[in-house]
Amino acid sequence: MRELTPETITDAVLDQMATTPDARMKEVMAAAVRHLHAFAREVNLTPGEWIKGIEFMTLVGKMCTPARQEFILLSDTLGLSALVNGLHDKTALEEGTHTSLLGPFYREAAPKLPAGTQIAKNVKPGTECVLYGRVSDINGKPLAHATVSVWQTGADGLYDIQENASSVDYRGVFETDANGLYVVRTVKPRGYSIPMDGPVGAMVNAQRRHGMRPAHIHFLVGSTGYRELVTALYLRDDPHLADDVVFGSSDDLAVDIAPNDPDCSIKGVPSIRFDLKLSREGEADKTSGRVGSDPSAILKGEKVAAAAPAAS
Ligand code: BEZ
Ligand code: FE
Repeated sequence: MRELTPETITDAVLDQMATTPDARMKEVMAAAVRHLHAFAREVNLTPGEWIKGIEFMTLVGKMCTPARQEFILLSDTLGLSALVNGLHDKTALEEGTHTSLLGPFYREAAPKLPAGTQIAKNVKPGTECVLYGRVSDINGKPLAHATVSVWQTGADGLYDIQENASSVDYRGVFETDANGLYVVRTVKPRGYSIPMDGPVGAMVNAQRRHGMRPAHIHFLVGSTGYRELVTALYLRDDPHLADDVVFGSSDDLAVDIAPNDPDCSIKGVPSIRFDLKLSREGEADKTSGRVGSDPSAILKGEKVAAAAPAAS
């Protein structure tokens, strides 16, 4: 039996895991072990520090509920969700609108609404705005009957689900018309803090970060034969456009509110134009490109349990 030392332990683990029949699982786990071991060596990790790390991850798990996914929030605040999204973007057949985070507040059960419907239940004076644009392929060919889901916070910076688990507000599913146009009445988005009352918030505070996301509206866009697009628009004048705590904002997704855009079909209300270009669907689109999801769907657990083979 060989001697296990900090220098030889990594190869010993890799040798033992070499029997993994699933080639992709073998590749991913081997890289995870190599990098985790390298990390421990680089910082000379102490047992006390690693126990703290384990306690932190335990708290992250305990914070998860059907309405809250603290692990996705951790991935977001470490930039890992944005990195994985960026890697996924590179696998597209064509370069369409760039993706941005799905975030933890997407809901599959959002109402289907006719074009031009106001998605906010209460609109305070001076807050209304119109959101419109064209969904097209990357060459500008309009995509009719594309599905455009939008969701955002209210003026208090909270999503409906944060205020009341069963309320539906500030979200809707629209369809593009024959010219690929969608139009939504809504309220101006506001920047907000990510949930800071859990272990991820404690980490962000300990790092003296502000915890803010710039004002944005989320989009999930689908059209048959095209890659599903998960993205968001960001208001250009938001002070946190350049230092989003979850690394979702970028200049190419930044938009302005126009006071009186002649191209907007709804007059007399400020408007935001956000055109969306979809890539044709390719081989890489057989698996989902979403990091984040409806947390209540994730926590049903059936897919997670199926991944572990029975012990023989
Ligand atoms: C959001 O934009 O909804 C969001 C994204 C990541 C973390 C928290 C919130
Ligand atoms: Fe958001």
